[in-house]
Amino acid sequence: MVYFSIIRTDMKDIKMTTLELIKNSPRHWDFIRKLRNSAKKGFVQQEHITEIQQAEHMLKYNNNYWVCLADEKPVGYVGVIDDDIRVATHPAFQGQGVGSFMINEIVKLFPDAVAKVKLDNEASLKLFEKCGFEKKFYLLERDASQPI
Ligand SMILES: CC(C)(COP(=O)(O)OP(=O)(O)OC[C@H]1O[C@@H](n2cnc3c(N)ncnc32)[C@H](O)[C@@H]1OP(=O)(O)O)[C@@H](O)C(=O)NCCC(=O)NCCS
Repeated sequence: MVYFSIIRTDMKDIKMTTLELIKNSPRHWDFIRKLRNSAKKGFVQQEHITEIQQAEHMLKYNNNYWVCLADEKPVGYVGVIDDDIRVATHPAFQGQGVGSFMINEIVKLFPDAVAKVKLDNEASLKLFEKCGFEKKFYLLERDASQPI
């Protein structure tokens, strides 16, 4: 089912794209998994996700994930679990407003949701700041190479 849609006009390419955010379904699970694995450097948790792990996760959290379609093709996903946002845009569609669209739509459903962003993830920081988020906390971890 289509939940939201906008029309975006890119004057440079004189191209019109319809972006829609839809609830995910099992046919999207592998798209989400592959995108998550290819983008894992950007995430706090960096483990490789297998098909089985993905199926288990999605069976539990199916209602927490949405997929962004551009002209009906999946180009990104956003998930919110316990008010914690995770988001990724397919590399071929980054920098074209897909991430901003997903975040601006998902905060309508989860106005209190937050994002945990790695300090070196400039794209993610810019995305959330552009969508009205502000840096509030530093999370400090002990350097595991240092003796206790
Ligand atoms: C973070 C991510 C979702 C952004 O998606 P996107 O579709 O490119 O986002 P947008 O096109 O809406 O861009 C949002 C803002 O971020 C900026 N931005 C996007 N990619 C950037 C990059 N590589 N470096 C610096 N800024 C970047 C854009 O310039 C834009 O700001 P602007 O409109 O003022 O120029 C995408 O880079 C991604 O999937 N990264 C890998 C996964 C990841 O790190 N997820 C976040 C985990 S918390």
